[in-house]
Amino acid sequence: MNVKPILASNCLVFLPSRLLTLLAILTLSVSFSAVGQQPGADGMGDALYPQLGNGGYDVRHYTIGLNYEPELNRIRATTVISAVATHALSRFNLDFYGLTITLLSVNEVAAALDRIGQELIISPAESIAAGEPFSVTVKYSGIPAPVEDPAVPWTKLGWHEYAEGAIATTNEPSGAMNWFPSNNHPLDKATYTFRITVPVGLTAAANGVLTQTIDNGDDTSTYVWQMRDPMSSYLATVVIGDFTVERDDTGPVPIRNYLPRDLSDDAKEALAKTQDMMAWMIDKIGPYPFEAYGVVVVPGFRSALENQTLSTFSPHMLLPSIIMHELVHQWFGNSVSPAGWQDIWLNEGFATYFEWLYAAETTGSPGIESLIPDLSPALKQPPGSVEADALFGISVYYRGALTLSALRAEVGDEVFFDILREYYQRYAYSVASTADFIAAAEDVSGRELDALFDAWLYSEEMPDLPQSPEHTTQ
Ligand code: TRP
Ligand code: ZN
Repeated sequence: MNVKPILASNCLVFLPSRLLTLLAILTLSVSFSAVGQQPGADGMGDALYPQLGNGGYDVRHYTIGLNYEPELNRIRATTVISAVATHALSRFNLDFYGLTITLLSVNEVAAALDRIGQELIISPAESIAAGEPFSVTVKYSGIPAPVEDPAVPWTKLGWHEYAEGAIATTNEPSGAMNWFPSNNHPLDKATYTFRITVPVGLTAAANGVLTQTIDNGDDTSTYVWQMRDPMSSYLATVVIGDFTVERDDTGPVPIRNYLPRDLSDDAKEALAKTQDMMAWMIDKIGPYPFEAYGVVVVPGFRSALENQTLSTFSPHMLLPSIIMHELVHQWFGNSVSPAGWQDIWLNEGFATYFEWLYAAETTGSPGIESLIPDLSPALKQPPGSVEADALFGISVYYRGALTLSALRAEVGDEVFFDILREYYQRYAYSVASTADFIAAAEDVSGRELDALFDAWLYSEEMPDLPQSPEHTTQ
């Protein structure tokens, strides 16, 4: 702290306020050094979800050990979190909802806990110094409690049992907290190990790669999965069921699909296109970001969700457009994740845009502008400033995608794809905000683009559709 200007100042008029500032600084630093630490915040400042995520630490790795008992839909689990304190911590929070905690320790010493709604408040026996690595072990059990989230009234979030012996987790945006304690915001990415124990006859899949299958000799097996690239908690998944595994190792990325035994031939045929779609995306944007890809198909589930390296599908959603959509999310959404939930159009608008471009390039389909007349009332919602209950609404998907069309018409094909690649490379394995995307677009094009983005992302009235090559129907 440089206090010279005050000492050098001979202007008495300014002295009192400067003195006050100095006093305030001194008082602050005294109270900091006296107490030495402060509680971690209970949120990360998300505009839509102020309570998701927490402050004061950065998670590096989650080890989620989970034992599933199908007859009871009960889980017994231990999650170990390795983190680093970003400031000195007297206490800190995790996000965790429902389930009974039977043991909690920090650096292997029992810690006091409090629970208020989704906040798990942890007071370690000894405070944690700034920059210090620490571990939190949470042992818990029970039947996961449904998480209510205004963004997805049409589906169950978190851990859900679809039939006896068939579970899937679908977190986006807030559901992770019903099955493991976490820093539940996309901003805090970490790597993961899953150790899932199930009765013999069931298979467990999770994000990343299967590194070990252990026969426990007591009619249970443990499946060990490793997600070695950074992942946001909303993309973590465990799926358990009776699956056949179909592999395709003919391309640059191993593809393995976890399928029900009675899946229709049409669905299998649609899935066989994954390798082509993968090649097309790699050509457009760059290498696939993770070690493997695949889908898991869950009867009873009614939607599709891009969990990292393992998208979850309803059997009725195995259409080429949706297969493409979830694959695109591995680049846009999973590798580059939204910095805040209001940036969700960076996921859904991009996935929709590429879904539509792929269809246009491979089948000559006219694309989504042909639907605009029917949709225009719904597209009045500006995709850049959605509320939680419109997070996955049509405007985020379609007007988000049309924002990219408008950009392409404005800057031309070559600059447009340069912008997308530059944006992707800048933020791969990390997070980006809408402002980050606009900055990348302006940097690459060398133009002021605020007016275009304001009109498309933030104005009530949707601008007229630009004329660009991909809008011409054959
Ligand atoms: N991201 C999904 C998509 O690809 C939509 C979605 C969000 C979702 N949350 C979900 C689907 C929860 C199933 C369950 O469009
Ligand atoms: Zn999507």
